[in-house]
Amino acid sequence: MRKISVNTSTPYEVIIERGSLARTGSLIVGITDSRRAVVITDDTVGGLYAEDLMDSLSDAGIKADVFVFPHGEQSKSIKTLSDIYDFLCEAEITRSDLLIALGGGVVGDITGFAAATYLRGIDFVQIPTTLLSQVDSSVGGKTAVDIPGGKNLVGAFKQPKLVICDSDILRTLPEEELACGMAEVIKYGMIRDKDLFELIASHDITNVDEIMDELVYRCIDIKREVVEHDEFDRGERMMLNFGHTLGHAIEGWHNYTDYTHGMGVAAGMCMITDRLANKPVADALRKCVEAYNLPTGTEAPMKELLPFCSKDKKRESGSISYIVCREIGKAEIVKVPVTEFEKLMEG
Ligand code: NAD
Ligand code: GLY
Repeated sequence: MRKISVNTSTPYEVIIERGSLARTGSLIVGITDSRRAVVITDDTVGGLYAEDLMDSLSDAGIKADVFVFPHGEQSKSIKTLSDIYDFLCEAEITRSDLLIALGGGVVGDITGFAAATYLRGIDFVQIPTTLLSQVDSSVGGKTAVDIPGGKNLVGAFKQPKLVICDSDILRTLPEEELACGMAEVIKYGMIRDKDLFELIASHDITNVDEIMDELVYRCIDIKREVVEHDEFDRGERMMLNFGHTLGHAIEGWHNYTDYTHGMGVAAGMCMITDRLANKPVADALRKCVEAYNLPTGTEAPMKELLPFCSKDKKRESGSISYIVCREIGKAEIVKVPVTEFEKLMEG
């Protein structure tokens, strides 16, 4: 078992261990006196893992109910949130009880937001079941729901009480979802850790399972460091958005249909690196991205992507911040007027 201690405003541990889902009950008993919980999950993950989790909770003397909603981003809504609140009321959940998020980033984000707001805040545990949620969304305390005006527009910072990463769970992920998470893993190598990048580049989508625990550990440790320095996203944390400004634009241009978030991020990282770094760095990134069946670009014309970039959340009063890695393992945050960013991208 490997452990990472995250020293944010409320500290917590991340457990990284194959098979740890079955130990959830005893791990929770070790961090709280609460013996009452609600597990929140989606229909896909619930069907695969809720029973094992409930057995483990029951063996540890924790009484739990399960709330299940349909899988997919469309469920990360005010409507689902309201259904969760009703369920918690009905189950007579009090401030000393616990929510447990069992699922990917959608489940983690909405459960975290429910935990941040129900009774003005109750504890929650993250059991992330996608690679993206293990290396990114379950750690760092960003929680949110989507509204018709945009993704993640309503949210709160709420750190979990514990995060349990069991990489055995990732074996049931569809390959496209695994690749999506690998885009974020490659991102960590690019922004912070050349050795990690080389480890990733020495594998591919067919054999990455061999090194999964090591990847999860190293990515979370990078996220820990960044989040400890900038918990509330006022500066350094922005570097976690490498590839995301163009990535979100590509997702938007494709109407969030045929391009997943990870595909957008992979293409976005390659496109910005092609323009702003030297050829060996750009070539190494492209080769690595291709090894995980991710795209290195898009057919969307840059002219049509730029209006989506201008709507990006990282834009402030006429300027935009983008992240560039001129060397593998080193990220710079560059803030420029939107017009300069557009010239750079069109050039
Ligand atoms: P997701 O939660 O929608 O999961 C993807 C799909 O995989 C779903 O259909 C799910 O049912 C299925 N699935 C999950 N685990 C599985 C498993 N082990 N086996 C088989 N199927 C499984 O998507 P995601 O990529 O995990 O998360 C995306 C969300 O995360 C977005 O809403 C995004 O905004 C959010 N996010 C949040 C943060 C943050 O810091 N809070 C960071 C990045 C992304
Ligand atoms: N996923 C970006 C962040 O946590 O800041």
